[in-house]
Formats: sequence, structure tokens, C-alpha cells
Amino acid sequence: MASNFTSFLILSTILTAVSVRCVELDVGGDNGWAIPSTKNQQLYNDWASSNRFKVNDTLRFQYQKDSVLVVTQEEYEKCRSSHPIFFSNNGDTLFTLDHPGLYYFISGVSGHCERGLKMIVKVLELEPITPPSNQSLSSPSSAGSNALGFATSGLILVIVFALLSSCIGAIIF
Ligand SMILES: *[C@@H]1O[C@H](CO)[C@@H](O)[C@H](O)[C@H]1NC(C)=O
Ligand SMILES: *[C@@H]1O[C@H](CO)[C@@H](O)[C@H](O)[C@H]1NC(C)=O
Repeated sequence: MASNFTSFLILSTILTAVSVRCVELDVGGDNGWAIPSTKNQQLYNDWASSNRFKVNDTLRFQYQKDSVLVVTQEEYEKCRSSHPIFFSNNGDTLFTLDHPGLYYFISGVSGHCERGLKMIVKVLELEPITPPSNQSLSSPSSAGSNALGFATSGLILVIVFALLSSCIGAIIF
């Protein structure tokens, strides 16, 4: 029983490590955040729908003489906002998707949003974690292997926490 619990701990820790990743995505790929060509006005929404976004993923906007605003759906449709939820114009904006749901991005420069510099990003709810299989990883229980199992899961936990804290630097692993 205790050994099953240990395997469960190890498995769920590994699952957490695998599912809780910080991913940094470059908005628009090589294009960066810039007015798309007239024949490609859906560039950003196409880019957004070809990606799967998770909570805590980070978007990187790279641009020159422009800005990034997060606005409401209504403001997105009007292409203007007097009180954006988020504003940045430093040329290299990192934005963390910190909750599930829809995010509406527009350029704050007059006329740019109308010409396609806008994007809707959908962040998925957390997927339910599949319960670990009941097949035990460790050999038939003995006091020694249990102690080893607990030591191993402790070590894995430490590694996961180290990796999670490095998420601030948005490291892909
Ligand atoms: C996102 O990051 C915050 C802060 O680091 C953390 O508290 C939260 O649990 C994370 N959420 C997910 C789904 O990873
Ligand atoms: C464990 O899995 C086997 C088949 O893989 C199944 O027959 C058994 O009922 C499962 N036991 C538990 C406790 O879920």
C-alpha cells in the first residue's frame, strides 16, 4: 500500500513536471508584431489558432514604433480603447497568459489595428490530469525500497520546484 502511494507520488510529480511547462511563444513568428500585408490580414488570428495556449505560457511581442494593448471584446471590435487592461510600447513585450479564457490584443497606434494588427488568443482550461495507472513502478514492497521511493520523490519535487521558479525566465525544457 505504502509502495503504491510512493509510486503515485512519483508518477503525479512527473506528470506535473511534464504538464506544467512554461512556454514562450514569439507572436507572429518571424514577422513579429507588425501590420500584416493586405492579402494576409488574418495573419495574427491564423497564428493564434495554430497554437495551443496554456495558463502561464508567455507571449513575446517584438516590434518597432508600435504598442501592445489588451482590451475588452467590444474595444477589440472597435479597434480602440481608452482604458486598456494592459499597455506596453517598449518594443519587446512579454505577456503572461495567467488565466484561462480569451485575450484581445490590439495595436494602440492609430490605424494599425484596422489593418490587421490585432489578435484573439484563447487559453484553455487546465486539462484534467489522467490518474496514474495502478501498475506499481517499484518492486514488491520492502522497507528499504519505500525509503528509497520517498527519497526519490522528494528529490523530484525539489527539481520540479527549481524548474518552476525558473519559469520566470520563461525557459523551455
Ligand atoms: C501559474 O503561475 C503561478 C505563479 O507562478 C502559479 O501560482 C500557478 O499555479 C501557475 N498555474 C498553472 C496552471 O501552472
Ligand atoms: C488495476 O488494473 C487492472 C488491469 O490493468 C484491473 O483489473 C484492476 O481492477 C485495477 N485495480 C485497481 C485497484 O484499480
